[in-house]
Amino acid sequence: MPTDKTFDKAFYITTPIYYVNGVPHVGSATTTLLCDALARFHRLRGDKTFFLTGTDEHGSKVAEAAAKAGKTPQELVDENSQKFRDCWQFLHISNDDFIRTTEPRHVRVVEEVFRRLQANGDIFAAKYEGWYSVADETFLSDLEVRDGRSLETGAEVKRVAEDNYFFRLSAYGDRLLSYIQEHREFLQPDTRRNEVLAFLKEGLRDVAISRTNTGWDIPVPGHPEQSIYVWFDAVINYLSATGWPDNAAWDTVWPADVHLVGKEIYTRFHATLWPAMLMGLGLPLPKTVLGHGWWLIGGEKGSRSRGNISTPQAVVADLMARSGADEEVAKDALRYYLLRDISFTSDAEFSVDNLVEKRYNPDLCNKLGNLLNRTLKMLAQYAGGIVPEGSAGRTANGALASLSRETTQDVERAMLALDPAAALAVIWKLIEAGNGDVDSTAPWKLHKAGDTQGVADALYAALETTRIVSVYLSPFLPHTAAVIRRQLGLGDAPLTDWSAETPWGGLPGGTRTEEAQPIFPRIDTKKSDTKNQAPKKETKPKMEETPPPPPTLTETAAPATPTITIEDFAKVQLKIGEIKTADRVEGATKLLRLTVDIGEDAPRQILAGIAESYAPESLLGRKIVVVANLAPRKLRGFESQGMLMAATDAEGHAILLHPADPDAVLPGAQVR
Ligand code: MSP
Repeated sequence: MPTDKTFDKAFYITTPIYYVNGVPHVGSATTTLLCDALARFHRLRGDKTFFLTGTDEHGSKVAEAAAKAGKTPQELVDENSQKFRDCWQFLHISNDDFIRTTEPRHVRVVEEVFRRLQANGDIFAAKYEGWYSVADETFLSDLEVRDGRSLETGAEVKRVAEDNYFFRLSAYGDRLLSYIQEHREFLQPDTRRNEVLAFLKEGLRDVAISRTNTGWDIPVPGHPEQSIYVWFDAVINYLSATGWPDNAAWDTVWPADVHLVGKEIYTRFHATLWPAMLMGLGLPLPKTVLGHGWWLIGGEKGSRSRGNISTPQAVVADLMARSGADEEVAKDALRYYLLRDISFTSDAEFSVDNLVEKRYNPDLCNKLGNLLNRTLKMLAQYAGGIVPEGSAGRTANGALASLSRETTQDVERAMLALDPAAALAVIWKLIEAGNGDVDSTAPWKLHKAGDTQGVADALYAALETTRIVSVYLSPFLPHTAAVIRRQLGLGDAPLTDWSAETPWGGLPGGTRTEEAQPIFPRIDTKKSDTKNQAPKKETKPKMEETPPPPPTLTETAAPATPTITIEDFAKVQLKIGEIKTADRVEGATKLLRLTVDIGEDAPRQILAGIAESYAPESLLGRKIVVVANLAPRKLRGFESQGMLMAATDAEGHAILLHPADPDAVLPGAQVR
């Protein structure tokens, strides 16, 4: 919370506050990283910056998760909020504050907002009759529900009829519409803006903002039999972190410059409810609400409840195993992929294979790593590793220098337009130009020809380009930027001044560079990438090392496959299991040793031949289908007490089967 009152307002950027019924994954990490890169960029430009993240700790979803885990809600939120803090620390997120909605500083502000809106007539009591989705923490009308599920998300809904407090959202439709039309920068990107305009044109309905006391949410001031709806509570975090209304310096931070959120919580909550609440309070609206698309996994939204999305820690471990890179380098590689490939206008497919094939090998290893490495090596060979004197001036009007000046402007423009991926794209254009310049000037030929000044200028231009790139990269890949600078002989001093550091000529002549050390070890995709891996001819599911043939499940099976009767099929007992632990088996490249809860007293131990398709950490908590009545057998000295069901992709890799709605089925549920 800011405490000193000065009148130059901070650049204020926020992530959504994350639900603590789950743990951080690469989706939540992406939103947080986008904010981190933007916040770091502003700090580097010398802007006062306030970057907020935190956890959303109320709501039935959290209370239900606690009950399921046999914990009190407070125990669960304390534990899981800490997991978010730990993960953000792991990824070197530079947030200035971390707000929890269970903190008194937030609860006080929620109560104050409620009282003020009630006093001006925006909150009133009425009967609510409709639907509530706990999974989405959303009230829904009849039109938004079919067959007991939300049309938008497919989540189960409950019929609710109770006396509640309502927020008079309907009164704000026209004001919101004119505000959006007058403030082009308010809703971004255009796809989201158009969605909101269409939503407003349908007409806004008043919304229920309390529920019969749930026992865990913030009680309505003066009416403890009702508790405040979790979304009304949650959006206020952006204001309570500024210390409003008691802290005299709250307006050096508010209004937020950017609320960055995923598209699913954009229209209904961040682009209508929250701005209308602010209008009701007479407070300025955030400058920009920016929505981004989703990471998809195999075409479906990556989410914890689907059990299909990895934690950043698991992806980093996987990358380290594939590349041999150290942990900090692997973290930067993940940061680069998430920042470069998330889309603001559509969704994108996440996979570690994409990370390796599209970004790690070509961009980080072959382009960035190579530019630094080859140039430093030549400098060591031709000039004793000392940056040449006099070249800075001679190269200042060369092609690389002028491209770097353009790139500085383009990076600034992209970051001020809130587009880190576009900034990275122009940075890589400069890196490519740096490599192209080394290829065309061919310092090795100049050296052979005895052209000492030519060698000096060619190497200086490449090294200086790399130095400027390290400045650009510091908000995105802080570790890599620091390593590049160290290898260039610039020491460990942190970068603090964008405008002083980006002009050409900042690498002093006479600097002693360090020995070239490759930062990004190349990943041999033939060896490590399961997609390109032998055995190509394998078509059987790799459930165990020598799996029995899978049962024939359809009547349209190829004629050569003998049919079975329904009685035959009934002999196979298929159950939903939840993976509790997963470990590699020493000496077996294909096997993982899992323990799987299938609703019995103790989890089953199952050996599965899926080690080439899945990193063990990525499997934890996933719901799968288990053949439960297969006779036990020993594999590599371990008894396997069942078999996992898996499909085989075109290249013979096992792809696990999951229930379409993992939350709807418990371990032990029958599969028929
Ligand atoms: N608690 C609410 C937000 C309240 S803000 C006042 C919430 N929390 S959440 O834990 O579900 O986090 C949702 C956010 O996580 C999304 O808006 C998005 O930023 C991020 N992502 C979750 N899954 C994602 C993907 N599959 N892909 C990209 N981002 C994703 O909603």
